[in-house]
Amino acid sequence: MRKTNSGIIVLEDAAALSYKAAEIFVRCISEALSRRAQFSVALSGGSTPKALFSLLVADDSFSNKIPWDKIHFFWGDERHVSPQDEQSNFRMADEIMLAQAHVRAENIHRMRTEQSDSAKVAQGYEKELLEFFQLTAGQLPVFDFNLLGLGPDGHTASLFPGTKGLYEHNRLVVANWVEKFQAHRITLTAPVLNNADTIVFLVSGKEKAEVLQKVLEGNHQPDRWPAQLIQPIHGKLIWLVDQAAASRLGGHGAARP
Ligand code: 6PG
Repeated sequence: MRKTNSGIIVLEDAAALSYKAAEIFVRCISEALSRRAQFSVALSGGSTPKALFSLLVADDSFSNKIPWDKIHFFWGDERHVSPQDEQSNFRMADEIMLAQAHVRAENIHRMRTEQSDSAKVAQGYEKELLEFFQLTAGQLPVFDFNLLGLGPDGHTASLFPGTKGLYEHNRLVVANWVEKFQAHRITLTAPVLNNADTIVFLVSGKEKAEVLQKVLEGNHQPDRWPAQLIQPIHGKLIWLVDQAAASRLGGHGAARP
């Protein structure tokens, strides 16, 4: 493991990456629950977090330290598909982790994507956030933990390059039209993602090396590399990346020979 001063931790491989993420997640839970009664996490979708989710339930050294009944699970983004669909981020997390840990239904705050109107899905989720976090209009929720991924095009959550959702600063949740999918994605907006106490990016594989270098060391062009929008307002930002993904980093990551 190598740690750089800009919050990037380079791990040997994907397994070490998930293990480190699990350690950080469990530590954040115990710190937060030493101050309050419940812990809120916004999960990412895609493939990279799958190993982490299964580790949190399969490895006793983690699962035994997680008071699952005190954890409230939300999503940073979701595909506009039914919760039974194999593309569903909820379904992925439920099958691999939530159902295995017998997480109570009232602790699972999924986006109601079975609704055909994606704008209504976003409005409904915004209402759920306002109620859960007891917010008044204009206030932002403070997630204890926000897990994010990085797409090969530089997107994070469902904030894709060149999309309207990138510039939304008044809504907590939007239905973001993504041309290449000819579909809406439901996503938390950048102000909400940035308002978490701890933000952790999980980035694995050599196919992410080029975009990771651009996001971390390239010019600031969030319209092209939306992950650059993630600048915590008050919290901590940790980039967990494996060697393969870090292979093109200059000053930040892998030491050059
Ligand atoms: C989604 C995600 C998305 C994901 C990236 C990386 O719904 O797809 O939330 O933002 O984190 O696309 O995905 P991989 O981990 O599969 O590379």
